[in-house]
Amino acid sequence: MRIICVDNYEQMSKKAANIVASQIILKPNSVLGLATGSTPLGMYKQLIKTYEAGHIDFQEVTTFNLDEYYGLSRDNKQSYYYYMYENFFKHTNIDMRKVNIPNGMAKDINEECCEYEKKIRKSGGIDLQVLGIGRNGHIGFNEPDIKFEATTHMVKLDEQTIKDNSRFFKSIDEVPTSAISMGIKTIMQSRKIILLASGEEKADAVNGAVNGKITPELPASVLQLHPDVTFIVDKEAASKLDLEKIKKDYC
Ligand code: F6R
Repeated sequence: MRIICVDNYEQMSKKAANIVASQIILKPNSVLGLATGSTPLGMYKQLIKTYEAGHIDFQEVTTFNLDEYYGLSRDNKQSYYYYMYENFFKHTNIDMRKVNIPNGMAKDINEECCEYEKKIRKSGGIDLQVLGIGRNGHIGFNEPDIKFEATTHMVKLDEQTIKDNSRFFKSIDEVPTSAISMGIKTIMQSRKIILLASGEEKADAVNGAVNGKITPELPASVLQLHPDVTFIVDKEAASKLDLEKIKKDYC
C-alpha cells in the first residue's frame, strides 16, 4: 500500500488525474473502474482539462462504474449514469459504447449482475480502479459486514450512507435504499487501485482501512491485501494517521 498525503482537495484531484492520465498514455485502450460521489469530481475536472490540452485521448478507453442506484433510470438526474455523463463523459471523446454502468432499472437483477461481471472479464479486466470511501468504510456500495467474496450484486444501503447521500436529493425519502454494486472480489481483481479521500469526516475510515484489522466491518480494510493500491488523501482525511510510521512502513 502506498499513501500519498497532500495539502488539500485540489492537490488530491490533480494527483489522481495525473495517475489516470499516465495509465491512458501508457495503455490507450485501458479499462478504467470509476467512482461517483463528491470526491472524484475534481479529478474528473482535471482529466477534462488534460484532454482539452491534447495530452490524453479517451477513444479507446473502456470504463466500468462501481455502482448505480436501484430504481433510477439513466435520465434521472440523481442516477450515477447522469452524473458520469454530465460531469465527465460528455466533455471527452470517449466512445459511449465502451461506457458501462449497472442498469438500475434492470428487470432481472441477477442477470444484470452476471452480465456486468462477464463484460468486465471480456474486456480483459480492470487496469485501474478509482475508489472513494464512505464514512463507514464502504467502497463501491459494499457496506459494513459485506462478504469479501461478493461480485457485482444488489446491496441494501446503510442508514449512514442514505443520510450522507441525501445531500444530493430533495429529501432523505427520495434516496434509494438499494443499489447494484461491484463486489469486493470484483474490486480486488483490478490490477491497480487508487483510493481518494478528502475531509475530516473520512479520517476514521481512512485510518481503519490503513491501520485497522482486515475485517468486513470496515470493507476498505481489505485493500491492505491488494498488491498495488495507492491512497491519495488530503491533510484532514489523513489526520488520524501516524504519518511518521507510515513513512517508514509504506514509502
Ligand atoms: C460511489 C461510490 C461510493 C463513494 C463514497 C464516498 O460510486 O462507490 O463508495 O465513493 O460513498 O462518497 P463521497 O465522495 O460523496 O464522499
